Amino acid sequence: MESPFDVLLVDEDADDEEIEQAYRRRVKEAHPDQGGSVEEFQAVRRAYERIQAGYEPSGSAVETTTSAAETDAGATDFGAGDERTASEPEPESKPEPGRVSSEVEYLNYEVLSDFGWETEDDDLFGKAAAAGLDDEDYGAFEVNPGESLLEAAEERGFAWPFACRGGACANCAVLLLGGELSMPASHVLPDELMEQGFRLSCNGMPITDELKVVYNVKHMPELDELLLPPQPFENAYPNR
Ligand code: FES
Repeated sequence: MESPFDVLLVDEDADDEEIEQAYRRRVKEAHPDQGGSVEEFQAVRRAYERIQAGYEPSGSAVETTTSAAETDAGATDFGAGDERTASEPEPESKPEPGRVSSEVEYLNYEVLSDFGWETEDDDLFGKAAAAGLDDEDYGAFEVNPGESLLEAAEERGFAWPFACRGGACANCAVLLLGGELSMPASHVLPDELMEQGFRLSCNGMPITDELKVVYNVKHMPELDELLLPPQPFENAYPNR
């Protein structure tokens, strides 16, 4: 099987930052919307997950750490081209047994500046509920078990931002102000942003019954360096 370092086109002694940059570069190149293919995209994701799981170039060390795929309850799955070997577990993309749908209350980050609101405001969603905002900017919807937050938003006709759909950027980021989203290990959000409540909507699935999220937070300066060029890579779905 091809070394994951070869798949990412990065030296085997590359440090974490170089590996992350290589992943971000390769996931763009491999994306089906960018001339790549489903198979190539999945191979790149898998390679990054294997390195994150402790892959040793010599093959002497065992990848004993739970792979990202094992814990990834929300990984984007294009549904074909799985190159996983017999020794690698199937990705866990099934919803948690018994989990019912979750209700997500959402607010568009772009609205905050119009009203002079802050994300730190404990009554932010109360103010939004009373402001008579359009459905596009504020409201709530159900997320079914097995759906990522982004998928659920798109399914209900919303055009939330995204780019790679593979954990390699922050274009799809949301700020979580209540509840929790699952997060696969193979994502590029640093710990400090995770601690602040940033999550990725493209591969995050609700793991609480209720969530409050501010979406469209890609405009926040904290995320600048993690964004991918929006065009032509970003293909927001039109409102349906
Ligand atoms: Fe790139 Fe979600 S991580 S779109």
